[in-house]
This record gives sequence, structure tokens and C-alpha cells, in this order.
Amino acid sequence: MSEYTLRIRRFDPESGGAAYWDERSLEMGDKRSVLDAILELKDTQDGSIGIRCSCQQGICGSCGVRINGKPGLACNTHLDAAAARAHNGDENVITVEPMGNIPVIRDLIVDMDAVHWKKIRRVTPWLINKEPIPDREYIVPHDNMVDITQPMACIQCGACVSDCLSMEVDPGFIGPAALAKAYRFVGDPRDAEHLERLKDLSEDEHGLYDCTHCFNCVDACPKDVAPMNQIMRLRRIAGEDYHINDRNNGNRHEEAFVTLVRENGLLHEAELLPRSYGGNSWFGKFHPDAGKELMTSLGTVIKAVLRGKISPKIAIFGHKLPSEDMKSLKQIYKVVDGRESRTELNLYITGYEDEDEIPEHAPHADDPTPLVVPDAGAPEAASSAEEPIEPAGESNESETP
Ligand code: SF4
Ligand code: SF4
Ligand code: FES
Repeated sequence: MSEYTLRIRRFDPESGGAAYWDERSLEMGDKRSVLDAILELKDTQDGSIGIRCSCQQGICGSCGVRINGKPGLACNTHLDAAAARAHNGDENVITVEPMGNIPVIRDLIVDMDAVHWKKIRRVTPWLINKEPIPDREYIVPHDNMVDITQPMACIQCGACVSDCLSMEVDPGFIGPAALAKAYRFVGDPRDAEHLERLKDLSEDEHGLYDCTHCFNCVDACPKDVAPMNQIMRLRRIAGEDYHINDRNNGNRHEEAFVTLVRENGLLHEAELLPRSYGGNSWFGKFHPDAGKELMTSLGTVIKAVLRGKISPKIAIFGHKLPSEDMKSLKQIYKVVDGRESRTELNLYITGYEDEDEIPEHAPHADDPTPLVVPDAGAPEAASSAEEPIEPAGESNESETP
């Protein structure tokens, strides 16, 4: 048993007062959870402390809070582990706050309907089945089922939403949990509307391309759903497989980024913006759309040069890796480009009970060799870069009994 002090963020809208810190101490075993401690305080010291919980087993997702600054589940965070992440240097002091980016109803209880569930509903969170409906069940290829198991592991706790930096800046961003849910259906070969879903999410200015790769949702998720990875998959399927050139220039920006790294080994920022708006080549900067964007960012560039953040030479001509390093880089691109198809299945679980069962072609988390597996949902390459295509290999009828 150790003594712990919990600093709980309290707020009662009915009182008319501001939020405040409520500090309370208790003795408890180190391996008891933060939720156990809060419930004990409720029982013995102040029954009015507000927290939402149900299963107490890390399954229902209702006890999401911020513990010493990090979002997570109160019921599966041990007291000693929580105290160890204290950044204030106080021994055994644990701060517990409501999750971020979601309005607070009272104390530690946030309004999940106002943000989280609203965004989940936004992505059409159900399967739109292909027609004709088979007499018996649809058969999903094993690898696809394994792939979507990762987003399916989401318990809707909202921890990723709480720490999403993009959502902090743009509350309209669809967000990590909802986009992971979208991948659950785009990765499912039984779903009939992959293209419509991807087009919708790409064209939305708060959609796929609003994520800034901050990794916070990956760190926050108690179920290893890795929402950012699912968002990147959606982007690649939208851009590379369906050739959706969205009005937000998200896909063009990604293409320009990849090309510049391929050509220079390093990012040439001054080229990135005109290529994203005016076309992915050196001539992109002469396109009127690129000119407009360049004019709006000229002030920022001048400020950066004056403050010595970038040298005028690098701003104009960019920089390049030494030739030896460029050779290694080209080798990497050669391997990746030489693959028969892009393979990026989630490796959350293999789906096989025993090692002996794993077929040779199956992807494996420990195997660094790039594997090519049949992708039941992948469309054929498009003939036009502008027009999204109906994926050719989309139908699974041959697998449907
Ligand atoms: S990686 Fe993207 S979705 Fe995830 S928290 Fe950061 S900005 Fe949000
Ligand atoms: S993705 Fe992870 S953190 Fe986000 S709601 Fe689902 S389980 Fe919670
Ligand atoms: S109470 Fe259900 S996940 Fe914590």
C-alpha cells in the first residue's frame, strides 16, 4: 500500500463557478487502477465526484480521462504507472482531468455525443453491402479480415480525439477515431462504396488531408488501433488506387512531397507549395494557382530568410543529399517501385492460432521481407490521372457462395 494524492479537475456548470483542482489523498495498492482510487474517494470522501465508467476492464471505453497529461482509460492505468509519468516532480501525485477537444458536462464526464459520436456518424459507420446478396454468407479473404481487425478493435473511448492536434486547431476535423472507422469499411471487400467513401472524405476540407501526422492518436490509443496509420492507408488508396485529386490539393501535395524526396533526398520546401498547386514539376510555379499561393506565402518566406531560419540559396535552389546517399535512396525507391503491388496490411494479429498454420505468403510482423499478397479490394490502375475510376477488381463474386 502507498499513499497517493489525486488532483481531480472539478467543474459543475450548475454552480456557476469556474473549474478548480480538488486534491484528495488515500492509501491504496500500487497495482490498483486510477479508477479504483476515484471510486474509493467517491465512496469515502465525496460522493459528488463525477466520472463515467462501466466495465472496469478496459473494454467499454467509458472511463477515458487525462492522467498526468496523457489520455487513457482510468480503469486500466495502474496507480504506480500513473504516478511515474508525473511531470511536476511530486511523488505519488496524480492529476486527473477530463479529456481534451470535447466539452465537459461535469467534472471528468465529457459530452461524447457533441464531438465523438457526431464524427463517427459522419463517416457512414456501417457496411453498405454489395448486390446481389448471396444466399449464404459473404466470404472475406483471410488477409483482409486480419487487416480490418485493427480498426475493429476500437472501443470508442475518445482518447485519440482528446489529444488530436489538428482537431485542436480545426474542431471540424473528422478526427482519428472516425477516420479509423472509415478504414474499417474501405478495407472491407464486402463494402460496395469504397470510391464514394474515399471521394467524400478526400473532398471534405476537414477530412483525410487535415491530419498533420503528429502521432498523438497512435500514442494515446489503449487498443493499438493506430488511427493515423489507418488515415494514411485511406490517403494512399484514395490517391494511388482511385486517383482522386481532391479540391483541397491534399493528394497533389503528397505527390509533390514524394517526388521532391525522390529527386533530392531531402524536402525542397520552396518547390513544395507551387508543385502542390500548379502541378508536380519544376514548371508548376508558372501555373496561375501556384502564383496566387506563392504571393500569399511570400511574407512568411521573407520573414524566415530575415530571421536566418533559411538561407536564400536553399530557399531558391533547395538542397540535395551527397551522391553516395542518393545512390542508397534510389535503391530504396527501386525496391519499392519494383513490387508487383502495394502491400500494407495491418499486422495487428496474424489471425492464425499456431505458427505452423501460417501460410508462406502471409504477412508477418517479424518478417522484414516485403510481401505481396492478393488484394481482393484493390482497383486496377486508372487510365486518367484526373478521373476517379470504378475499381476493376472490386467484385468478389467469385468468392461469394
Ligand atoms: S496523427 Fe493526425 S489524426 Fe492523429 S492525432 Fe495527429 S493530427 Fe490527429
Ligand atoms: S481509436 Fe483507440 S483511442 Fe481512439 S476511440 Fe478507438 S480505442 Fe479509443
Ligand atoms: S470502465 Fe470500461 S473501459 Fe474503463
